[in-house]
Amino acid sequence: MRVGVLTGGGDCPGLNAVIRAVGRRVMFRGHELVGVMEGWKGLVEGLTEPLGPREISGLLPRGGTIIGTTRTNPYKLDDGVRRVLDNFAAADLQALVAIGGEDTLGVAARLHEEEDFPVVGVPKTIDNDLSATDYTFGFDTAVSVATEAIDRLHSTAESHNRVMVVEVMGRHTGWIAVVSGIAGGADVILIPEHPISIDEACDDIRRRHERGKDFSIVVVSEGYELEGGDSGSTEVDQFGHIRLSERGVGAAVAREIEQRTGFESRVTVLGHVQRGGTPTARDRVLATRYGLKAADLVEDGKFGRMAALRGDEIVDVALKEATAELKTVPGEWWDVARAFFG
Ligand code: F6P
Repeated sequence: MRVGVLTGGGDCPGLNAVIRAVGRRVMFRGHELVGVMEGWKGLVEGLTEPLGPREISGLLPRGGTIIGTTRTNPYKLDDGVRRVLDNFAAADLQALVAIGGEDTLGVAARLHEEEDFPVVGVPKTIDNDLSATDYTFGFDTAVSVATEAIDRLHSTAESHNRVMVVEVMGRHTGWIAVVSGIAGGADVILIPEHPISIDEACDDIRRRHERGKDFSIVVVSEGYELEGGDSGSTEVDQFGHIRLSERGVGAAVAREIEQRTGFESRVTVLGHVQRGGTPTARDRVLATRYGLKAADLVEDGKFGRMAALRGDEIVDVALKEATAELKTVPGEWWDVARAFFG
């Protein structure tokens, strides 16, 4: 069998660890591994590269993806789906492992459903917003980066008696903000799913000051909607997403807090630092387990399925289930975060 592998959407730490694990298992079984370059673009344009033992070695600690990624959506391109099917056949591939988030796996689910395409999925995204799995790989690394930043900001905030606002990623959900905020001891967290107003945030900060704490850390998720805030560029990618970083929500929040409370405020936007570099041990292990499971799903012909984590077990779920809706931060997590506001 010739098994293709692609990585689509925003990159994240652990992608290469998945490629390595898929490769090790399919090669052990006597199959070939083929890299489909730059996400779905590789199948739309027929860009493939053989991946042998040498290419997949030394990948565990390596960030990014050795096969590249784009946000190409075949359903938005003229004849895109036909080209995917033709190029898949021309490359003599019999199965595909798609490593991606809601967009990449949404395409995979649809191709399987409508074209009987032999694809299995692996849940990737620093945002942790895919349903049907407890965690996506890449999330733990992003949370670690954000937590370290919050820790570092504490000391400078305290020296200057400032409010430090940290803007973290998370396109639709506040997972990174909530988990790094809890880990780093944030005094206020602003996320799209459980939005508190700037007035409430300012009340929390004032309460801290009344208790004798002259500095505060505010974590804001990039998807938080500030009343009357800038909606940024209206340009969208092939999946209909705007570039959230351009809205500058962190800077706007810092400005509002300073104006309303009189406390000097600064903003730090973590941006792509959260996605770059080496994965944490936890992400390497999760990515490895997902990769082996994906190879097993291919071997068993269980297409249209995705490797998923449930508790401590790796299981498989329908791609359709995983991509039907986003997994938002539940009330229980929010209650833990809120208990430390102010
Ligand atoms: O989905 C992952 C993610 O990092 C989001 O958190 C963020 O909004 C987006 O990708 C940024 O995308 P890009 O790398 O295209 O700027």
